[in-house]
Amino acid sequence: MEKGQRKTTPLLLCSHIVVLHLLSLVAETSAKVSAVIVFGDSSVDAGNNNFIPTIARSNFQPYGRDFEGGKATGRFCNGRIPTDFISESFGLKPYVPAYLDPKYNISDFASGVTFASAATGYDNATSDVLSVIPLWKQLEYYKGYQKNLSAYLGESKAKDTIAEALHLMSLGTNDFLENYYTMPGRASQFTPQQYQNFLAGIAENFIRSLYGLGARKVSLGGLPPMGCLPLERTTSIAGGNDCVARYNNIALEFNNRLKNLTIKLNQELPGLKLVFSNPYYIMLSIIKRPQLYGFESTSVACCATGMFEMGYACSRGQMFSCTDASKYVFWDSFHPTEMTNSIVAKYVVLRVLYQFLQ
Ligand SMILES: *[C@@H]1O[C@H](CO)[C@@H](O)[C@H](O)[C@H]1NC(C)=O
Ligand SMILES: *[C@@H]1O[C@H](CO)[C@@H](O)[C@H](O)[C@H]1NC(C)=O
Ligand SMILES: *[C@@H]1O[C@H](CO)[C@@H](O)[C@H](O)[C@H]1NC(C)=O
Ligand SMILES: *[C@@H]1O[C@H](CO)[C@@H](O)[C@H](O)[C@H]1NC(C)=O
Repeated sequence: MEKGQRKTTPLLLCSHIVVLHLLSLVAETSAKVSAVIVFGDSSVDAGNNNFIPTIARSNFQPYGRDFEGGKATGRFCNGRIPTDFISESFGLKPYVPAYLDPKYNISDFASGVTFASAATGYDNATSDVLSVIPLWKQLEYYKGYQKNLSAYLGESKAKDTIAEALHLMSLGTNDFLENYYTMPGRASQFTPQQYQNFLAGIAENFIRSLYGLGARKVSLGGLPPMGCLPLERTTSIAGGNDCVARYNNIALEFNNRLKNLTIKLNQELPGLKLVFSNPYYIMLSIIKRPQLYGFESTSVACCATGMFEMGYACSRGQMFSCTDASKYVFWDSFHPTEMTNSIVAKYVVLRVLYQFLQ
């Protein structure tokens, strides 16, 4: 654990302030992003798993302790997740609600909804591990959502809303860490490179389906430096508590495939604006130089011992949790803190997603 003085980079803070002003101004004059519609895993699940039978949950303390009302919503975080910040940046709600949460209805979902499910992946075999919502099922939910949106707004307005909505995809880490490198099945069928091609093929089909359903603004999220997650550092055989280079290299390779995919699909599908949102380098920068961003600890998470725990284990060990999560890069052994999420989200908005305002 690095204990250091809390410092911030003026440059980074400035750009955050500038982008927030810029976006809220533009959003007021011409709301070019009508809604934020999300597909993916725990990086963007706002509580869908609370409503399905799975142990991949976080709707209990200390999760959500820095969220509005101290509420554990099912976000795998002490506070908000990246999509919440992205939605807010576009002048929409500061929270993207979970589709399966009965507290919300179509009037809430008309400006934002997440179909994401913690512990899922591109691969059906990944969602099977903890019985969570597979990606294909998220697409089925999306079709039902479009029907309801048409009934609510009228067909023509609903079509426009979908065409102007920002569709965000954030998943893939679990395909490698929860599935390929942990379970016996896929590793005996595919080399790592073949498996990457298999996953990229699923991503491609998914984006084609979204396009067929009227989506035109799509962000395909890349993988983070997943070898630097505290759990992977702790359990690394090589030890030394370093990032696991093999996993980071897989993330880099897979991200290149996704980047290539965005080039190809933009050429092929008229009217599609598909972007690749890459969290890899900003995350790595935060992890390597945490003090620069105001963090004190990067290799150990806030929750419990910070080495192994997530989900229920995080709850059981919470008497060991840190007091100020904003000084930690990671909240539990697998998920960033709200502070990290906010930095990464704002970076991605400033670098990539701003294009959807034009
Ligand atoms: C959604 O719920 C709110 C109250 O939570 C209610 O006022 C509104 O009528 C509902 N809208 C629809 C379309 O069901
Ligand atoms: C995943 O499962 C669904 C539903 O059974 C199926 O339609 C789909 O083809 C499967 N995807 C792959 C890549 O096997
Ligand atoms: C449509 O909305 C109704 C009422 O909120 C809800 O019961 C139903 O599950 C929704 N259907 C789909 C397919 O989303
Ligand atoms: C991506 O495309 C470039 C240029 O076409 C090619 O050289 C590279 O091998 C591709 N990378 C992957 C991982 O598919």
